[in-house]
Amino acid sequence: MTSTTTGVERELDELLGRERFAPSEGVRGRALIADGTVHAEAAQDPAAWWARQAEALDWFERWDTVLDDANPPFYRWFAGGKLNASYNCLDRHVEAGRGDRVAFHWHGEEGETRAITYAWLLEQTQRAANALEAHGVRTGDVVGIFLPMIPEVVVAMLACARIGAPHNVVFGGFSAESVKERMEFSEAKALITVDGARRKGKTAAVKRAVDAVGMPVQTTFVVRHTGVDCPMGERDVWWHEALEAAAPERAPEPLDAEHPLYILYSSGSTAKPKGILHTTGGYLTQVAWTHRHVFDLDPETDVYWCSADVGWVTGHSYIVYGPLLNGCTSVMYEGAPDYPHKGIWWELCERDGVTIFYTAPTAIRACMKWGAELPARHDLSALRLLGSVGEPINPKAWLWYWKVVGGGRCPVVDTWWQTETGGIMVTTLPGAQDAKPGSAGTPLPGIDVAVLDEDGAPVPDGRQGLLAIRRPWPGMLRTLFKDEQRYVETYFSKWPDQPGTYFVGDAARRDADGYHWVIGRVDDVINVSGHRLSTAEVESAIVAHAAVAEAAVVAQHDEDTGQAIVAFVTLAGERAGDAALEAELREHVAARIGKLARPKRIVWSADLPKTRSGKIMRRLLRDVAEGRELGDVTTLRDPAVMEELKRKVAARGDDDA
Ligand code: WT7
Repeated sequence: MTSTTTGVERELDELLGRERFAPSEGVRGRALIADGTVHAEAAQDPAAWWARQAEALDWFERWDTVLDDANPPFYRWFAGGKLNASYNCLDRHVEAGRGDRVAFHWHGEEGETRAITYAWLLEQTQRAANALEAHGVRTGDVVGIFLPMIPEVVVAMLACARIGAPHNVVFGGFSAESVKERMEFSEAKALITVDGARRKGKTAAVKRAVDAVGMPVQTTFVVRHTGVDCPMGERDVWWHEALEAAAPERAPEPLDAEHPLYILYSSGSTAKPKGILHTTGGYLTQVAWTHRHVFDLDPETDVYWCSADVGWVTGHSYIVYGPLLNGCTSVMYEGAPDYPHKGIWWELCERDGVTIFYTAPTAIRACMKWGAELPARHDLSALRLLGSVGEPINPKAWLWYWKVVGGGRCPVVDTWWQTETGGIMVTTLPGAQDAKPGSAGTPLPGIDVAVLDEDGAPVPDGRQGLLAIRRPWPGMLRTLFKDEQRYVETYFSKWPDQPGTYFVGDAARRDADGYHWVIGRVDDVINVSGHRLSTAEVESAIVAHAAVAEAAVVAQHDEDTGQAIVAFVTLAGERAGDAALEAELREHVAARIGKLARPKRIVWSADLPKTRSGKIMRRLLRDVAEGRELGDVTTLRDPAVMEELKRKVAARGDDDA
C-alpha cells in the first residue's frame, strides 16, 4: 500500500465515528433549497404541490384533475393534460435559443469525443421519428432498444417518445436471449440495435448475436457503430440510411399525460421479469423536479455526469429525461470505469469540468480498491456535489467518496428509489439537510414513506420494518405491462386493509430524526453491483443445463458487489461437478440472461434442504452461504443435508468437486 492510501485510511478511520455532515455555508448559500419550508409546504397538500411542480413542463393542454384516485391502485396523474416528452427535452430549449448548448460530451472507449448539442438531438430525433413511422411504427406500438452507451440511444428513446411509441430498452449487458424474451413479452413492433459494441478494447458482434436467436419484430434498425461485419437481412434497416432518407421535421405528438412513455423490465420474485410501465406527465414532473433539486442543479453552469447505463432506470431518469428536461450539459461515457485505465473517470471529470457526479456504491468500492492516488492525479476542483444510488452505501465508502473524490467540500446525496418509483424518493436535499453516512435520508417533499410491520402498523423509530409508500406519487409505475393482476398482487396486496399502500420490498428502519436506513430486500431479489436479479430467474437458467437436476440460488454478502450469487447445484447423470462444468454453467447463465447473472460460486450439492412438502428452504442456504448459525432446521425432511452443505461451504470450495 502506498503512503497516500495509508494516509487516507487513517483519516477515514477518524471520520468513521462522525454521524452527520452538515452543508457548509457556501453550499447552503447558493442552494435552490436551503431550509425545510418546501417539505412543509408539500406536506400540506402533496397533490397540489406536485401540480405546481408540473408547471415547469410545457403542456399543450392543461390537465383537469391533478390526481385521479377513484380506482386504486390504478392512479392517474394530470388526467386530461397533453404534452410530449421529446418536446420538453429538446424543442423548448432550442426554441429558447439554446440549441448550441452541449447536451452530452460523449467520450468513446478509444478516446474519441463528440459534442452532442440540443439542436443536433432535435434534428436527429425528428428524422428518427419519421424513419420509425416510415417502417410502420405507430403511436402505441412498443419499440425495443438494445444499444450501447452511444448518443444514438438518446435519439432512439426520444424519437419513440415523439410519436408516442413506448420504448423498451434492454441493458446492453443482457444476452440476446433476454432481449428476445423481452421483445416477445412486450409485443415489440421494431428493435433498434447496433452492429457491434465495444467493451474494454474488444468488439462484441451484437447484430450477429441478435440474428442468432431471431427477434420477433417486423423491423430491425441497425446503428453502425464499430463497423464490425454485420449481416443485413430483408427486415433489417441501417439507422443512418433511414434517418438520411427521412424528413428533418416531425411535430411532437400531443399525448395524454397518462400515455405510456416506456416499459422497463426488472426482476421480481419469479423467473419472469416484470414489465414496469411508466407514463408521461407525472413521471416527467418527478424526474425534472428531483434532478433539479436533489442535485441542486444550475443548468447554466453545471456539468453533470451520471455513470449508470441507459439500460437501467437510473439511465432513463437521470441520464436522459431529467437532465434533458432541465436543459443541462452532461457527460456520457461509452466504456467501463477501468478502461483504458482505472483513472479514466477522473480524467474525464477534469477534462470536462464535471461539477455533479452520480454513481453507485459498488463503483465507489472498486475505486477505493484501485487507490486514492488515481483521483488525486486529477484536478477535481470543479466538483461540488456527489450522488449515490443502487444499494445501501457503507459508511466507509461514503467517507472515501466524500473525502477523496469530493475533497471534503461536496455534499453527498444518497438517493433511494426503484425502477418502480420512476424517480428519487428518499434522500437529503443538499443545501437544507445534513447527510448521515449510510442513511439515504428523509422522504422528498410530496412523498409519504413509512416503515410498517407485517400487519401494516407503523413500527417505532429505531426498529426494523418493511418500507412502504402510503400515498401515490407522480412518477410511480402505473401497472405491469399486460399483467394488471401481478401489479396489484406484487405491490398492493401486502396489507389488505390498506389497499393504497405500496409494498416496496425493502427492509428499513427510521431513526429519531426521520432518516431512513435501508437494510436490503426482503424478497427473492438479489442486488449485484446495484443490478437487480431474481433468484428464480438464475435458477431456471441453471436447471436448463442438461447436466443439472436442481438448483437453488441465494445471495451472499460481497465486499465489492454488495451481494454475490451463490448457486447450490445438484447434478443429474454422469458428469462430475468440477471446474470445467462450473465454467460451463457460468457461461450457460451468461448466454441465457447475461454476464451479470453468473454465479460467483457454485456449490455441488448431493441434495438440497427441503421441507417435507418438498419446498427448498433458501433461508437455510443463505445462512450457510454467509457462515451464520443455522436457523430452525426441524421442518427439514433430512436435516443431515445441512451438515454436508456446511462442511462444503466452509471448505471454501476446495473439495466442491
Ligand atoms: C432496489 C431497487 C434506483 C435505481 C437503481 C436500482 C436498492 C436503490 C438504494 C439506496 C439503499 C437502495 C433497494 C431498492 N436501492 N437505491 N440509495 N440505498 N438501497 O433500481 O434495480 O429497481 O432496485 O435497489 O433495495 O428496492 P432497481
